[in-house]
Amino acid sequence: MKKILVTGSTGQIGTELTPALRKRYGADNVVAAGHRTKPGDALRAGGPYVAFDIRDREALAKIILNHDVGTIYHLSALLSAVAEEQPELAWDVNVNGLFNVLETAWEYRCKVFHPSSIGAFGPTTPRDRTPQDTIQRPTTLYGITKVTGEMLGEYYCTHHGVDCRGLRLPGLISHEALPGGGTTDYSVEMFYGALREKKYTCYLKPDTRLDMMYMDDAIRAAIKVMEAGPARLHHRNAYNVTAMSLTPEELFRAISKQIPGFTITYEVDPLRQAIADSWPDSLDDTAARNDWGWQPEYDLESMVGDMLANLKARGVGEKI
Ligand SMILES: NC(=O)c1ccc[n+]([C@@H]2O[C@H](COP(=O)([O-])OP(=O)(O)OC[C@H]3O[C@@H](n4cnc5c(N)ncnc54)[C@H](O)[C@@H]3O)[C@@H](O)[C@H]2O)c1
Repeated sequence: MKKILVTGSTGQIGTELTPALRKRYGADNVVAAGHRTKPGDALRAGGPYVAFDIRDREALAKIILNHDVGTIYHLSALLSAVAEEQPELAWDVNVNGLFNVLETAWEYRCKVFHPSSIGAFGPTTPRDRTPQDTIQRPTTLYGITKVTGEMLGEYYCTHHGVDCRGLRLPGLISHEALPGGGTTDYSVEMFYGALREKKYTCYLKPDTRLDMMYMDDAIRAAIKVMEAGPARLHHRNAYNVTAMSLTPEELFRAISKQIPGFTITYEVDPLRQAIADSWPDSLDDTAARNDWGWQPEYDLESMVGDMLANLKARGVGEKI
């Protein structure tokens, strides 16, 4: 088979998507691409590894040729909070980087997966059960790059026949790698706080409702949408997917059931609160369910149980 390239493989999603792809398609068939972050031992030893800057189109083309790549899972990006602080770099990596991926995919006939986000919506979007097709006027730089990315994917698909597919992912909760500077990072940090110190200070207000998903479900969704027959896909870039709609207080209560004595305080960060307030409360993912059989496996309770079990198994909070 032609090989799979995973850009941004050292990030929160790539750390788990790369081994999942290697398990499914064979270790030698999945090339992990990093940038500056040192790859973990498992990623480095688990199969081919390269490092390059996504803004360097020639380097990308060389990797595609040298490794005979036929599919690109493109995960390199700057996330929402970081993008507000470094807008020029965020535009360069998120938009020009994707442009390089799509141009190269067109030239070498590669299939592309590119994740969008709940950040592609804005304050004028319907907040509850946000429809698949609706108003997209984000007020964050990150969101603007995500809408641009969705439209670029659609353009290369329609005009150049590039098989580009995407998901609008909610905030992802995972135990392998720490999140990379998004607005929903609190949901992962809270577990570490609970296990290490039995306390956590949250930067969002207690009743800030946002969509969330456990990483295992996100990995399954990414692979499933890429394996779906093309004729079934009515919305390539990008499908709404969700698993649960949560507030910090609800997550705190669910963790407290397992960690008695866990306490929370709230010190609101105006930047991330403003971003969160501009995003929907919950997405309608009917199109993904109908078109390619999307179905999450984890709800709040099972996600909390699995997160705590995995973090404890890794020795997080052993001294408590
Ligand atoms: N994690 C989430 O909750 C979430 C939610 C919705 C959408 N997404 C999207 O999923 C994708 C991956 O997100 P993530 O959470 O894994 O992000 P992350 O911040 O954890 O990782 C991003 C990766 O991009 C790489 N990168 C940054 N600049 C680069 C450059 N110039 N050249 C090459 N690589 C570069 C970094 O090394 C890192 O490995 C992004 O498009 C993000 O917008 C993530």
